[in-house]
Amino acid sequence: MERTFVMVKPDGFRRGLVGEIVSRLERKGLTLREARVLTLTRELAEEHYREHRDKKFFGELVDFITSGPVFASVWEGPDSVAVARRVIGSTNPAEAAPGTIRGDFGLTVDSNIVHGSDSPASAEREIGLFFG
Ligand code: CMP
Repeated sequence: MERTFVMVKPDGFRRGLVGEIVSRLERKGLTLREARVLTLTRELAEEHYREHRDKKFFGELVDFITSGPVFASVWEGPDSVAVARRVIGSTNPAEAAPGTIRGDFGLTVDSNIVHGSDSPASAEREIGLFFG
């Protein structure tokens, strides 16, 4: 069964959206396997987002993701990586469809509430980083 990694970011955590996001993924049919609340170190943030290290927004991204607690979680289900990404919606909340998490609760790309792995390989890498 495929696993994926979903992280409610500091903006989503601060706004009390953890329950809403967990509920949407559960109602879709995915199964929560592991979860923890933590504040990322810069080292973990830079490793998690290493594919973006050459982008001009990388520094801001690391500042933002380390700015407060996150809810890190592992989900399981058939095609769970793609399914979770559809529930989450497009990266830019301004363009995300209504009915998706980012479409319903977000407005800007720099604080887009939640992260979902973009491939099964990324999911396994990210699960390893956060859950060992
Ligand atoms: P995420 O799915 O966590 O993966 C990479 C993140 O980079 C993405 O969500 C956005 O939050 C962030 N991002 C993408 N584009 C920009 C941008 N132009 N400015 C700031 N952050 C961005």
